Amino acid sequence: MPTIAITRRLPSRAYELLRQCSDLTIREHTEDRCLQPRELHQLAMGADALVCTLADRIDSQLLKSVSPTVRIVSQYAVGTNNIDLEAARTLGIRVANTPDVLTDATAELAITLMLACSRRVIEGDHLVRAGQFDGWSPTLLLGQRLSGRTVGIVGTGRIGRRTAEILRYGFDCRILAWSRTPRASWAHQHSVKYVALPELLASSDIVSLHCALTDETHHLLDIDALERLQPHAIVVNTSRGPVIDEVELVRRLRSRQILAAGLDVYEFEPQLAAGLADLDNVVLLPHVGSATNDARSAMVDLCIGAVLRVLAGKDAPNLVV
Ligand code: DGY
Repeated sequence: MPTIAITRRLPSRAYELLRQCSDLTIREHTEDRCLQPRELHQLAMGADALVCTLADRIDSQLLKSVSPTVRIVSQYAVGTNNIDLEAARTLGIRVANTPDVLTDATAELAITLMLACSRRVIEGDHLVRAGQFDGWSPTLLLGQRLSGRTVGIVGTGRIGRRTAEILRYGFDCRILAWSRTPRASWAHQHSVKYVALPELLASSDIVSLHCALTDETHHLLDIDALERLQPHAIVVNTSRGPVIDEVELVRRLRSRQILAAGLDVYEFEPQLAAGLADLDNVVLLPHVGSATNDARSAMVDLCIGAVLRVLAGKDAPNLVV
């Protein structure tokens, strides 16, 4: 009877799908929290499949120790930077993720952060709750418009492209883009201009990060890159925290060398860089890019679907290895 080890409590749909296969055993930790490496190892040992999240470090050591029983690692997320894909490939362990189904949700959240920063939504909410709203004022909380602004999209995978399209058609924005693998026909179709990263940073009113975290994109926005941003620039990150040097970002936000930042992800998640939470020119969310009922339910289908297919000796459409 195959055993499926699941590192975090998933939406109930996952268990409904698994229960439809009567010959499966589900193994979970007693507590629903991020597991320590030793706990993760214990949970996965001897299992046939491992369902994990982006907070689990699936390195070569773990993969070697659970091989050959674990035949598939199925990540309940699209990003797979926490998994050593090369080691999995070498060991013959399949790896699945959850692409496409969270594209709209994450693009919408990026735009939510752009609007929240531009229109000072959180400051306004705090002011009202604090009982400091004493009526309409000609000068209260003046912000920036989003319509017609220049937005730099860093990374034009599915989520970056969707964000660009919503901004282009919904807000009439001018879109600059940077990617290691530019998509010429998409850019032509949607009037997107690919430029070098320094030019994108220097010319954008808003810079929105959508690239995968790799060795090349770690601290892509480092001290030199942040230096290029305009004083009225807003930085939005819904990709992975380490793409930005967060300590340097805090320094620039504090000294108002850039206007604001909207962050859903953090360099040392779930920890925040010192001083970040004290700033009033940031909007901070708890990594909820894909957190809609629809997206999370469709992610379950992809994630659990891949496990069931691979254990049945079949291929799955969402295998990355
Ligand atoms: C992902 O899927 O990679 C998001 O960051 C979480 O859903």
